[in-house]
Amino acid sequence: MDETHHQYIPALRFGWLTRLYDPVIRWTMREDLFKPCLVQQVGMQPGHRVLDLGCGTATLTILLKQRQPQSTVVALDGDPVVLTRAREKAAAAGVEISFDEGMAYQLPYPDRSFDRVVASLLLHHLTLDNKRRALRETFRVLKLGGELHIADYGRPHTFLSWKKPTST
Ligand SMILES: C[S@@+](CC[C@H](N)C(=O)[O-])C[C@H]1O[C@@H](n2cnc3c(N)ncnc32)[C@H](O)[C@@H]1O
Repeated sequence: MDETHHQYIPALRFGWLTRLYDPVIRWTMREDLFKPCLVQQVGMQPGHRVLDLGCGTATLTILLKQRQPQSTVVALDGDPVVLTRAREKAAAAGVEISFDEGMAYQLPYPDRSFDRVVASLLLHHLTLDNKRRALRETFRVLKLGGELHIADYGRPHTFLSWKKPTST
């Protein structure tokens, strides 16, 4: 394992917490509010190929596929344990999603192969260098005119940053 892989941070920072990921995110991140907003913003069309980067347990991935059943949804995560849970959830939801184990900064996909890339709560897991690499890879796999949609958090800088998000 190289230095880059040593910097890997699992879903809840410690691998043994992974099974608690869904309840923790539901209670702490207002997931029910921001994930449907993000799905709407992505604006998927029939025939689109969509990549969910750092899919975790696939809550968002499943919403994406349900929103546009005529799309192809691919989900990638570097953690095989979280991917097992993601596959179980997709099967229970009855949706077809292709799950791949891999690193966001070394994508196993050809150039210009996706119409949309979505990264929810992933980027804060990456070092600055790996963020740059992941973004380079993202733009490599996006088709011309494709779109990247990011949802993440950081320290609020202004009063307005503390405001409640609103759905549109
Ligand atoms: C906080 S979770 C977010 C999961 C999901 N996208 C969501 O919105 O709930 C971050 C996920 O990114 C994955 N991850 C962290 N570093 C990664 C990397 N370098 N490449 C791929 N996945 C990574 C973790 O395994 C974890 O499942």
